[in-house]
Amino acid sequence: MESYKRLLLNNKAWAEDTVQRDPEFFHRLENVQRPEFLWIGCSDSRVPANEITGTQPGEIFVHRNIANMVVHTDLNLLSVLQYAVEFLKVKHVIVCGHYGCGGVQAAMTHQSLGIINKWLRNIKDVYRLHQAEVDALPTEQERFDRMVELNVQEQVMDLAKTSIIQRSWAERGGPHLHGWVYRLSDGIIKNVFEMEAGTELDPIYRFDNL
Ligand code: CO
Repeated sequence: MESYKRLLLNNKAWAEDTVQRDPEFFHRLENVQRPEFLWIGCSDSRVPANEITGTQPGEIFVHRNIANMVVHTDLNLLSVLQYAVEFLKVKHVIVCGHYGCGGVQAAMTHQSLGIINKWLRNIKDVYRLHQAEVDALPTEQERFDRMVELNVQEQVMDLAKTSIIQRSWAERGGPHLHGWVYRLSDGIIKNVFEMEAGTELDPIYRFDNL
């Protein structure tokens, strides 16, 4: 059997099983979604938002890209963010990175990878901002792990630099921003950074005419 056919068979079995356990499941979700969470995660196949958080369809609005980046010229991310914050009115935005992230690892080398260089440059900027702290760590593993954490922290701060988040904070006192890092070796998520609504950021990023 071709491998993709397994996916369709699994889907059929899952849908039947779901209806058996909860006959109203699909009816409830058919016309409306009211997720409380926006997830900005890595595209890495080992870090699926729903599975690792024990959540069901309808609970998390998801955006994933290489190394869970919040890039202000990324129309895709910005559209997802605006929709989630302004229309779905999510209460929490979670940036979830993971140790062992290939994107972060590649950004720490001098290898040219083509168009992806432009994406990874944003991670190199994170390193430049935190170079003293990262370089002071004794082993390559610790430097890599810390870079994953700092990258998540900077992406959360990049969320807070958007007018979308700042306007929402002013208007409805949310969402709460979270920076998490998932460990591939044991499946545990570590909370590494957070910003509650109204948290001060470097004043140069503040918009006064929202
Ligand atoms: Co990754």
